Amino acid sequence: MVHAKRQLSDRQFRSLAELIEDQVGIKMPNAKRLMLEGRLHKRVRALNYSGVSEYVDNLFDKAVLDDELTHLIDVVTTNKTDFFREPQHFDFLKTVAVPELLKLPNRKSNDLKVWSAACSTGMEAYTTAMVLDDMVRAGARFQFRILGTDISTAVLRVATAAIYNREVTAPVPPQFVERYFLTSRDRSREEVRVVPELRRLTNFTRMNLMDSSYPVDRDVDVIFCRNVLIYFDRETQRKVVEQLCSHLRPGGYLLVGHSESMIHSALPKLRQVQPTVFKL
Ligand SMILES: C[S@@+](CC[C@H](N)C(=O)[O-])C[C@H]1O[C@@H](n2cnc3c(N)ncnc32)[C@H](O)[C@@H]1O
Repeated sequence: MVHAKRQLSDRQFRSLAELIEDQVGIKMPNAKRLMLEGRLHKRVRALNYSGVSEYVDNLFDKAVLDDELTHLIDVVTTNKTDFFREPQHFDFLKTVAVPELLKLPNRKSNDLKVWSAACSTGMEAYTTAMVLDDMVRAGARFQFRILGTDISTAVLRVATAAIYNREVTAPVPPQFVERYFLTSRDRSREEVRVVPELRRLTNFTRMNLMDSSYPVDRDVDVIFCRNVLIYFDRETQRKVVEQLCSHLRPGGYLLVGHSESMIHSALPKLRQVQPTVFKL
């Protein structure tokens, strides 16, 4: 009896790791091997393969790879996110960044542009939308648009639909839950949806941070690039940060995740104003 190979050979793991690093930038050291094999099982079952080994053997066939890459990316990316994650950034946005950005002498209008690069399921973008809309309601005079980009199509579908399980709204202040989420008339459905007023101001599109150029405006006020640089090696981090900065207006801000403050050394033209807040 022939037993299907359940695990990857060293050679298969190395080729897969190289493919992932090359396409997505995510480092795949040997320590992540078990995790990767585990995550691939869903695709193995969906495609009726006997095991991960057969999956990888077939993957490098060009016709298969063209179709499978999107799924592979969905599988290897870690999409953890939350509403009001690292809340000090949203306080900073409200109390420091926005008032200051609106006073910049080089501004032609009061239209603020915010970009959530690596937005996952959109919670970072919608949190920003809630905070900015709240400022406008309180009398601040500006309009805003928010762009969310990510490499994973699966998370972008969720972000665009803006439908979430009610329990993920736990970190959202109660008055914001009331104001910015719709609940289903069917109370047994534990789902909420971001109100259309905020959805209209928020666009999501697929973009790979590894690309050599980004199809994004060059006068963005604030870029969130949080909890993604950590997966890249130092040189890739430097390149990504440099490219992101070329889309910031002078005086604009780049916000990174709490474990990513090391990007400080990546770009001399960025001034660190707080451990995870950088100004161009
Ligand atoms: C851990 S989530 C962070 C989400 C959000 N920024 C936050 O801090 O809550 C990381 C996201 O980065 C995305 N990602 C990973 N590699 C990427 C790449 N090369 N280009 C664009 N997005 C990428 C993943 O798909 C994932 O949704």
